[in-house]
Amino acid sequence: MKHSNEPYSRGEINKTGQSSSVGLIIRQKEPTNLETPFDQVDSFLTPTELFYIRSHFPTPKLDLASYRLHVDGVVRNPFSLSYKELRDMPSETRVATLECAGNSRVFLVPQVEGAQWELGAVGNAEWTGVPLRTLLETAGIEENACEVVLEGADRGTPTEQPVPPGPISYARSLPRDKAMQRDVLVAYQMNGRDLPRDHGYPVRAIVPGHYGMASVKWLTRIYAVSEPFRGYWQTSDYGYWDYLDGKPVRRALAEMNVKSEIFRPRVYETLDPNQLYTIVGAAWAGEAEVTEIEVSTDAGLTWSRAKFFDPAQRHAWRRWKFDWLTPKKPGRYTLIARAKSADGSVQPEKHEQNYGSYVINHPLPIEVFVSDSRDTL
Ligand code: MTE
Repeated sequence: MKHSNEPYSRGEINKTGQSSSVGLIIRQKEPTNLETPFDQVDSFLTPTELFYIRSHFPTPKLDLASYRLHVDGVVRNPFSLSYKELRDMPSETRVATLECAGNSRVFLVPQVEGAQWELGAVGNAEWTGVPLRTLLETAGIEENACEVVLEGADRGTPTEQPVPPGPISYARSLPRDKAMQRDVLVAYQMNGRDLPRDHGYPVRAIVPGHYGMASVKWLTRIYAVSEPFRGYWQTSDYGYWDYLDGKPVRRALAEMNVKSEIFRPRVYETLDPNQLYTIVGAAWAGEAEVTEIEVSTDAGLTWSRAKFFDPAQRHAWRRWKFDWLTPKKPGRYTLIARAKSADGSVQPEKHEQNYGSYVINHPLPIEVFVSDSRDTL
């Protein structure tokens, strides 16, 4: 199966997707938090201009001439390199889906605090850079290093409780095993072009399979640590409740859970009765491939298999479609899609409370109207 925009390609969006002018939806003006208008997505690769932006602090301005990336901590040979030195190293290009852990928060009832993301805090892009592993090997990561911290140049004081004692930078750690996987990139290109400023220019991490918060933008320091890192962005924020010997313990969010979303139709769209309508969407998972999509057009009473447009590819989303013969009877119908992944995971029926306002991967209801008159019912 080849990646293709057919049969529902609209407009001039090409494979590397540099020609969209549809724009983004504001969720917060400053810092910049912009959402992809999800119903506008067609292509396998999300055009850069259409890719959501999630930033906690104002976008830092990094100067290429003075930029340095430091690699240190529990390593034998700490070093730093310039932008040019990084670009001169052997690179790899990979496709990875980034989903913000708070994507779809607006679907939670009752409403919770935080940016009210709808469906579009997710995108799929092609990233080019140097494997993090190469830098860690060059630095001689020590045996006792258990995690690798990635730190960005942006700084500020978060406003959500508990507020830290002073300004902090955006930093997250990765378990050593993940950091040493070849697919984790220190990236400088997105969809074949240099990273735009909002997406981390000049250099960012890309951690395929993990929620977006792991892919640290404006990366200036990588350091190995011999004790688990307990920074703000993986304890106070981006954490969840797990269990250890039956006792609740706080853990850092990491791998994405399997999820599917519907591009089209949109919420409250009106469709003609007794017509073939192609429901389209995308599904993704963390480390496992998405293997199956089912769609229900009756709020979950009955389910039918949908078809994939894209082949299974670890870390990349798969677009899917389902041809629906809309009912003759006018009314309100609830569409939902449910994905399964190769490790046997299925989307849960309900949002799991232990994730708080994150990991919203239960099947999301899209209510539509079927009506002859196109009048809202
Ligand atoms: N890196 C830095 N330095 N600062 C940030 O605020 N936001 C994270 C991550 N990396 C963030 C960051 C979050 S929460 C997400 S979802 C992704 O970046 C979003 O990447 P994007 O803005 O390129 O879509």
